[in-house]
Amino acid sequence: MQDTSPEMSVGESAGSIVDPGLPLDELVARVERDFQQRFGRVPQWLAAAPGRVNLIGEHTDYNDGFVLPMAIERYTVMAAAEADGAAGGADVRLYSSTVKQAERFHIGASDFRQLAPWARYVYGVMAGCREQGLEPPALDVLIDSTVPLGGGLSSSAALEVATATLLEAVTGKRLDPIRKALLCQKAEHEYAGMPCGIMDQFTSVLGQASQLLLLDCRSTEVTLVPLVDPDVEVLIINTNVKHELTGSEYPLRRSQCEAAARAMGVRSLREASPEMLAEFSASLEPVLQRRARHVIGEIERTETAAKCLAAGDWARVGELMYASHASLRDDYEVSCRELDLLVELAQKHGAGGKVIGSRMTGGGFGGCTVSLVRKDHLEPLAAAIAADYRQQTGVAPSLFTTRPAQGAQIVRTKVG
Ligand code: GLA
Repeated sequence: MQDTSPEMSVGESAGSIVDPGLPLDELVARVERDFQQRFGRVPQWLAAAPGRVNLIGEHTDYNDGFVLPMAIERYTVMAAAEADGAAGGADVRLYSSTVKQAERFHIGASDFRQLAPWARYVYGVMAGCREQGLEPPALDVLIDSTVPLGGGLSSSAALEVATATLLEAVTGKRLDPIRKALLCQKAEHEYAGMPCGIMDQFTSVLGQASQLLLLDCRSTEVTLVPLVDPDVEVLIINTNVKHELTGSEYPLRRSQCEAAARAMGVRSLREASPEMLAEFSASLEPVLQRRARHVIGEIERTETAAKCLAAGDWARVGELMYASHASLRDDYEVSCRELDLLVELAQKHGAGGKVIGSRMTGGGFGGCTVSLVRKDHLEPLAAAIAADYRQQTGVAPSLFTTRPAQGAQIVRTKVG
């Protein structure tokens, strides 16, 4: 069947179903061009921040546990110039080329609920930066992004972190990286109403080329785990479905974890153990037991996976990824039919070591899977998985590979 959907046509035009993506420098050039067209002059400052994919350690960050993510080669780029003749003060004019919408606000003085949802992130981070002494002049700002929106690859964290980085460029002041990540997380809590953990913002700020970040979310200590084997590809497949529209499942999981920890008399599930869970099996509600079992097991799997990766034990890493998926599906109940199908197809077509491991990544209820794939088999595997997925769901998936990318960066600071 001839495919005409936009998701497929990008990859197909290059003779492959795997989308090669737009390099950062080309995205930056596009943003500069769009800025000039929209605002009639060249931007003075440019900043970029990546999305992320999590290899393992899902729904553990807000339980003080471990996560093992990396920044991806998909970015949000923001360009800005001092406003000429605008209202002055903290007046900001925004344009998003991604959603083709304009917004306008006064930092700290507008009702953010009146803004389009994407602009609330920018508003929230700018308000937070201002509290930290990063006070910009009136600005014109243009945004564009290659991070898929709503695909579980942290497009919102990329936007938050790009905003904070842009204000660092504009004001010439630097935020401590951890404080910067926390400021962005706070904006997401307060201005988007999403009680997320710290993984996404941390990864977007602290990502490093060729490295996974083993982040201890209790101490915020980061251990770098190299991912440099040239024969192993990180393949991301977007289900292109989103089932959870109200956003209520995430806060519910979070409060269930807190309730389970409270019932067992510990500060967080990081402090709990399988033995403790067994001890409380009579008194703890079954649903809370399942949630806690996932988190306790996942924290352990993540630490083990980091060790196995460092030792090159790919077989074990793969087992841990599949086990993580099963636990998210059965105990944490945040997967969905399409995610399960992609993992099953990876396992089926990847038999014999072509696929090392596969699992859902991010919050769940749609979004993406992450798979470790042997490079030699990538193209036929990707084609087979995509064809079967499409046939069974009627939806075209999007596929791309990525190396671990560098975190947020100032692309241009005003000269002179
Ligand atoms: C979302 C949140 C993260 C994390 C993941 C699940 O991406 O923003 O903080 O909790 O879900 O691991």
